[in-house]
Amino acid sequence: MARLKGLMLSLPFGFVLFLCSTFSIVPGVIGWSKEGHEMTCLIAQALLKPEASEAVHHLLPPHVNGNLSALCVWPDQIRHWYKYRWTSPLHFIDTPDEKCGFQYSRDCLEDMCVAGAIKNFTSQLSHYKEGTSDRRYNMTEALLFLSHFMGDIHQPMHVGFTSDKGGNTIDLRWYRHKSNLHHVWDREIILTALADYYDKDVTLLLQDIEKNYTNGIWSDDVASWEHCKDISSCVNNWAKESIQIACKWGYEGVKSGMTLSEKYFDSRMPYVMKRIAQGGIRLAMILNQVFGDSEEGFVAAT
Ligand SMILES: *[C@@H]1O[C@H](CO)[C@@H](O)[C@H](O)[C@H]1NC(C)=O
Ligand SMILES: *[C@@H]1O[C@H](CO)[C@@H](O)[C@H](O)[C@H]1NC(C)=O
Ligand SMILES: *[C@@H]1O[C@H](CO)[C@@H](O)[C@H](O)[C@H]1NC(C)=O
Ligand SMILES: *[C@@H]1O[C@H](CO)[C@@H](O)[C@H](O)[C@H]1NC(C)=O
Ligand SMILES: [Zn+2]
Repeated sequence: MARLKGLMLSLPFGFVLFLCSTFSIVPGVIGWSKEGHEMTCLIAQALLKPEASEAVHHLLPPHVNGNLSALCVWPDQIRHWYKYRWTSPLHFIDTPDEKCGFQYSRDCLEDMCVAGAIKNFTSQLSHYKEGTSDRRYNMTEALLFLSHFMGDIHQPMHVGFTSDKGGNTIDLRWYRHKSNLHHVWDREIILTALADYYDKDVTLLLQDIEKNYTNGIWSDDVASWEHCKDISSCVNNWAKESIQIACKWGYEGVKSGMTLSEKYFDSRMPYVMKRIAQGGIRLAMILNQVFGDSEEGFVAAT
C-alpha cells in the first residue's frame, strides 16, 4: 500500500465518504486475483513495441519504475471509493441466466459494463499521441483501467449469469475450505496450480504460459487471438468467449454446497491459463495500436 502513496492522494476524502456510505456491494466481486491481473499485465508489457513501451513508461507514476503490472489491480482497490463509485459496474457483465450468450445492446446498458469500459478507455488512449495539452481525460487512469478490464473480460465468470452474480452467490467448497464459484475462477484455480506445479512461484507459471504461446500448445493460435479490426466487435467476441466458457466449464455440473476438487481443477485449469494468456496478448495488441506510429487505428476517434 505504501508504494501506492502517489496515486492515493485522494484516499482520505474518498475513504471517509466510503465509510459513511450505505452503498455496499458484494465484496467478493473483484475479477482475476492479484496474481491473474499481474500475469496479464506482465505478458502484455513484454510484448510492447518501442513506441507503446515508451508511452506506458511515460504514463506510469515514477514509483513503479515502469512496471505496469504493479498497478493492474488498482481499479479493484478504488472501486468503492466515492470518487470512483461509477467504475464499479465496469468490472463485469451480467447476462440473462442460461442464455449463454452476450448481446451488447441487451447486456451493456449505457456502455456501463466491462465491454463498454474497454471501448471507452481504448478510445481515450487513442488521443494520447495528440500531445500533452488539452486532454479531456486522465491518460494514466485510462491506461490502468484498460489494463485491468482486459483481464476482467477474459475471466469467464465475469461474464456470468445475473441471478447468481457471476457465481458469487454459489457457495461451495474448494477442496477443504469455503469458497464460491466466482472466486474459484478468480483465484482458487490459479493458487492451486501454483502450489501443485510451480512451487508457488508466479514467475515459473508465467514462464510456462509464455512458453506455451511462443513455442507450445497455443503458438498457432496467437495470430487469431490478436486479430482485431474494430474494437467494438472484438470486445463483443471476447465477452462471448467468456460466457461460453462460463456455461460449458464454469457452471457445468456445479451446485451450491458442493465440493470441487481435482476433477474440476484438472479440467478447468487449462481454460484459466489460456484466458490469462489471451488477455495479456490482446492488451498488448491494443496498446501497440493506440500508441504505435501506424496511422491506421482500429478505433474511431471520438
Ligand atoms: C491522473 O490520475 C492519477 C491516479 O488517480 C493521479 O495520481 C494523477 O494526479 C492524475 N493526473 C492528473 C493530471 O490529474
Ligand atoms: C513488477 O511488479 C510485479 C507485481 O507487483 C512483480 O511481481 C514483478 O516482479 C515486478 N517486476 C519488476 C521488474 O520489478
Ligand atoms: C468513460 O470514462 C469517463 C471518464 O474517463 C467516464 O466519465 C465515463 O463514465 C466512462 N464510460 C464508460 C462506459 O466507461
Ligand atoms: C503448457 O502446455 C503444457 C503442455 O505442453 C501443459 O501441460 C501445461 O499445463 C501448460 N501450461 C500452462 C500454464 O498452461
Ligand atoms: Zn476487476
